[in-house]
Amino acid sequence: MSVRPARAADLPSILALHEQTFGRPLHETAWRWKFARHAAHSIPLVWVAVDAQERLIGHYGAVPREIRLGKDSPLTAMTAFDGMTDARVRRQGVYTRLVRHAHEAWREAGVACVLGLPNEQYGSRLQALDWRLLFSLRWFLRPLRPEALLARKLRVPFLGRLTAIGGLWNRLADRPLMPPVSDQATGEPAATLAVHSGADAAFEALAESLNALDRGLLDHSGLDRGSAWLTWRYLESRPHRYQLHTARNEQGVEGYLAWRFDRESPAPFGLIAETHAPTDAVHDALLLAAITAMRKQDALAVAALAVPGSVTDRRLRRAGFRFSWGSFDVRCVPLRDDLPWNRLQDRLRLAIAGGDFDVV
Ligand SMILES: CC(C)(COP(=O)(O)OP(=O)(O)OC[C@H]1O[C@@H](n2cnc3c(N)ncnc32)[C@H](O)[C@@H]1OP(=O)(O)O)[C@@H](O)C(=O)NCCC(=O)NCCS
Repeated sequence: MSVRPARAADLPSILALHEQTFGRPLHETAWRWKFARHAAHSIPLVWVAVDAQERLIGHYGAVPREIRLGKDSPLTAMTAFDGMTDARVRRQGVYTRLVRHAHEAWREAGVACVLGLPNEQYGSRLQALDWRLLFSLRWFLRPLRPEALLARKLRVPFLGRLTAIGGLWNRLADRPLMPPVSDQATGEPAATLAVHSGADAAFEALAESLNALDRGLLDHSGLDRGSAWLTWRYLESRPHRYQLHTARNEQGVEGYLAWRFDRESPAPFGLIAETHAPTDAVHDALLLAAITAMRKQDALAVAALAVPGSVTDRRLRRAGFRFSWGSFDVRCVPLRDDLPWNRLQDRLRLAIAGGDFDVV
C-alpha cells in the first residue's frame, strides 16, 4: 500500500468507503463542505491509503483550527475526522501507516497538535499513535416531553397523551431560566437581552460584533470561534441544518448557541452543539429560546455535551439537565515537544465543544 493526499478523482471511492464503514450514505456536498473549503490551505488535509492497484483502502481527514493556549500566539491544531479502513483489509496496519504519515506531514508543516474523539475501535492504536487523554465530554439530557419518553420506554402509547404532565415539568424546569424583572443590585428594571435566530440576512451585519466577541475571548484557551467559524460550521453546514441563536444588547452580540433537531432521527432529540455565554443571564436567555423552539418542533428531549464540573455543567443542571448515558474522550496527539499540557488538560478552562467535532 501507499499513502498520499486525496485527489478529486478519489471522491466516489471515499463516499463508497464511508457508506460501507458507517452504514449510512455521505453526500458529496457534505464531504466537500467539510474538507474542500479548507483545501486552499497549503497543507494536505485529507490523506488516503491505496493498494497496489490504486484502489482506495483507507481515509483520514482533518480541519485546521487556530488554538490559543493562554496568552501566547495561537498555534495551528488539526481536528481529525472520518478515519476508516476498508473492512476487507483491516488489522493489517493500514490505518496506523496512514495516520502516522499524515501526522508527520502536518508536523513538518508546523502544525502543533491533532485533536479528536477517537472511539473504542481504536484499541491499542490509542497508544501506538500517541492519542493522549485531555478530558471527557459527557452527555447531559433534559426531557422536553417526559410523558412521550415514558410511553416509548414502557411501550404504552396511551401515556404519551398525558401532555399536561409534560407542560408542568417544563414550566418548573424553565423557571430558573426566566429573566429577573428587576436588577438585584439597583432595583431598576433588568436590562433585556434579545435573542435572534442567526440564519438570516441580518447575520452578515453581526459579523463585526461576533469578531469583537472573538477578540474578547483571546485570553482564554481553546479553539478559535467568531463569525468565520460560526458561518462555516453551522450556517453553511451540509450534513445537518443548524439554528444559531445570538443574544444581543445595544453593544452587539453577547453570546450565541447553535443547535439542531432531526425529526426523522430514531431518537428525536434537540442537540446543542456549542454555546458561548459570558454570564448565566446570557446563557439562560439563549437556552430558553432554543428549548422553546425545540418544543415547537416536537423534540422529545434536548441533549448537550459538557465537561463534568464545568460552568456549563452547572448551568445545564439548573435548567433541568442531568447526566446521561455516554461520553467522549477528547484526545490530543502532540506534534511538537513544547506544548503547554497544563493548559491543554485544563478541562475547566480549555474551550472545546461538541460542535468542534462531528458528534452533534
Ligand atoms: C479503526 C480502524 C480505522 C482501524 O483500521 P485498521 O487499518 O484495521 O488499523 P490497524 O490495522 O492499523 O490496527 C488495528 C489492529 O490491527 C493490529 N495490526 C496491525 N497490523 C497488523 C498485522 N500486520 N498483523 C496483525 N495485526 C495487526 C493492530 O495492532 C491493532 O490491534 P488492536 O487495536 O486490536 O490491538 C478500522 O477498524 C475502521 O475503519 N473502523 C470503523 C470506523 C471507525 O470506527 N473509525 C474510527 C473513528 S472515526
